[in-house]
Amino acid sequence: MFTIITGAQFGDEGKGKIVDLLAKDYNIVARFQGGNNAGHTVRVGDEVYKLHLIPSGILLDSRVLIGPGVVLNPEVLAEEITMFEKHGIKVNAEKLGVDAKTSIIMPYHIEMDGLREASREKKIGTTKRGIGYAYIDKVARDEFRMAELVDQERFLARLEELAPQKEKEIAALGGDPKIVRDPALIDRYIELGKKFATYVTDVSMEINKALDEGKHVMAEAAQGTHLDVIHGTQKFVTSSSTIAGSACANLGVGPTRVDNVIAIVKAYITRVGEGPLPTELTGELGERLQKAGGEFGTTTGRGRRCGWFDLPLLKKAIALNGYTEISLTKLDVLTGLNPIRICTGYTCKGEKLEYPPELTEDLAECKPVYEDLPGWETDLTEVKDFEELPENAINYVKRLEELMKVPINYISVGPGRAQTFKKE
Ligand code: GDP
Ligand code: IMO
Ligand code: MG
Repeated sequence: MFTIITGAQFGDEGKGKIVDLLAKDYNIVARFQGGNNAGHTVRVGDEVYKLHLIPSGILLDSRVLIGPGVVLNPEVLAEEITMFEKHGIKVNAEKLGVDAKTSIIMPYHIEMDGLREASREKKIGTTKRGIGYAYIDKVARDEFRMAELVDQERFLARLEELAPQKEKEIAALGGDPKIVRDPALIDRYIELGKKFATYVTDVSMEINKALDEGKHVMAEAAQGTHLDVIHGTQKFVTSSSTIAGSACANLGVGPTRVDNVIAIVKAYITRVGEGPLPTELTGELGERLQKAGGEFGTTTGRGRRCGWFDLPLLKKAIALNGYTEISLTKLDVLTGLNPIRICTGYTCKGEKLEYPPELTEDLAECKPVYEDLPGWETDLTEVKDFEELPENAINYVKRLEELMKVPINYISVGPGRAQTFKKE
């Protein structure tokens, strides 16, 4: 079985939590795009793990893989491995594999991301982790691959080849070109390369073999559908393709092998960084949702902008991903709000729309049209069963399902593993 899980909104939908929940039934969990711009939270008992690179299946028996479409900062990988070791969780080559072709985030990519963002008149609000510049180099065929990181000779030869051009680029952005050949940074990367040499693998081969043997494989996305570099709200997007089809292309698995595609959908909507968010709640209500949902970035700590559920954006996410089921998260956060609003369409330049306009500048002009539903006061965090939910919460979920026309499989009412139940 091959399952793809993606975020249906602007990221931070709770992918980490749901992947951890489902991973017990999967032999392999693989990340297919993005880098340490992602922050996936997994809570087990009192322990909270914030994962930026390692797939969220790590805490179970699954083998975890980082595919060639990921951009990998080796320092962050080392920090994550150390973090797990401190918690008594052993990460070794048997547990974790990284594709030989995975692109490496170099210190100069991070520098360039920061310099470019600072000089942009209209900011994107990137995470400043060097993601965009690492992908630029991949597409320009000027990247370091994992295979080069782990081989000192190849690494130094590649640096020799690329350094003059990178130094020019940094200087052109107003930075100090010395970062490119900084001896301490080079030594550190060589040291990290040695540490990770045994982790190198062929992810496509491993996954296809596992599927041939009847094993179960899950592809875990980072970011969210509307941050997709091709179909998202450009320019306020990330630099990789975040939708389900990207899992096939990036992991090297044919689309004929996909069995199901699960959407992670928050019961409202959030966005970090710049870009349109038609249902955004500024003022007291927005602050209340932000506080109740703990909506502060896992990676950067920035406050997430919050808004009501946006059906037009969700309809587009369903079209882009071909979802077969939906896991609905953070329903508990809506407790105490009355009414609860669902944005069912927009008015845009005098027109009524039920599907988002294609261009970001037009989406920014859209005003939401709402359907109001009565709220509930009961705390949901201990609820263990769909029928146990207060009537108005049941009605809200059923209405969302009716509008989305895709079945909801799981409902999450808190960050813990146990705070999830199946909606039969
Ligand atoms: P991801 O990037 O999609 O994995 O999501 P993040 O981990 O960045 O953000 C989701 C946050 O919400 C994390 O702090 C989770 O622990 C938390 N969370 C997940 N599901 C629920 C839920 O159902 N209710 C509440 N209150 N918190 C949740
Ligand atoms: P997870 O996987 C939410 C956003 C950034 C910025 C834009 C571009 O935790 O859901 P980048 O550094 O990628 O060039 O920034 O994308 N962004 C995310 N927002 N969740 C994420 O990941 C994100 N990763 C990037 O805030 O607006
Ligand atoms: Mg996140």
